[in-house]
Amino acid sequence: MRALTTIEQLSTDEILQLVKRARQLKAGSPSQVPTGLTAANLFFEASTRTKMSFEMAERKVGLTVLPFEANFSSASKGESLYDTVKTLEAIGVNVLVIRHPENMYFEALIGKVKPVIINGGDGTGNHPTQSLLDLMTLLDEFEDLQGKTITIVGDLAHSRVARSNVQVLSRLGANLQFVSPLEWQAEFPVLYSLDEALPNSDVVMLLRVQHERHDEHQSFTKEHYHSLYGMTKQRMDAMQEHAIILHPAPFNRGVEIADDVVEGSKSRIFKQMENGVYMRMAILEHLLKEEAE
Ligand code: NCD
Repeated sequence: MRALTTIEQLSTDEILQLVKRARQLKAGSPSQVPTGLTAANLFFEASTRTKMSFEMAERKVGLTVLPFEANFSSASKGESLYDTVKTLEAIGVNVLVIRHPENMYFEALIGKVKPVIINGGDGTGNHPTQSLLDLMTLLDEFEDLQGKTITIVGDLAHSRVARSNVQVLSRLGANLQFVSPLEWQAEFPVLYSLDEALPNSDVVMLLRVQHERHDEHQSFTKEHYHSLYGMTKQRMDAMQEHAIILHPAPFNRGVEIADDVVEGSKSRIFKQMENGVYMRMAILEHLLKEEAE
């Protein structure tokens, strides 16, 4: 495997193997990435977690990381993504993590460039590494997901996190429920309100309201959204004892999630971030094991 661009390309066995390996790495197992390899993270959309988490993972597995700033690169002079990637290939970069606003941007690269490509998010399409770290966090909590009810709440239409997660979670036997305002439901079947969905949920996965992807005037105030779709302390307390809350972050406090829920007893948000580093180490190892110096 020379790339990780979508969850669909991974078999269920490979997915579970990545979780197992990420756990071993978290427990201190040494990584098996060959020495002498170089990585660069090309982020053409804002990022704190994914970019920093990949950089941490790259350093932990012994890669040399070359800095790249999209705003100060020749992309700002109109250089295409393909030409940028060919440049980094010529310089000798072995692995590229790319986040780009265009859905399926990687189709123009796969099979045409040498570096291993890892998708750090394409527009509203896919975010495979986020789903894998979410899965690792879920499997820390539940032995398996067969028959577990997972409610995904919020801006479904613009969420690559929701799209990749639906793939993994349904494959592992979870029962998915969706909650969203009408204008953000897209292809997802929304049958319940949040208050109806909460009592039988084992997991509530909140999504960020993607203000930067909305061009029309929003029909919601923050307060209105919070009252209908926000995870308040009262709603958290109404969830089952064992139920947990995930959010890929960044979270809009007072919109999707109340202040006192972010670090509340059911929140696993910071655990997701912690697990992300080890999951990304496992992914790098999986993709680079065979790479010669
Ligand atoms: C997500 C993303 O960028 O897709 N964040 C992340 O990677 N942790 C979710 C989001 O920004 O809403």
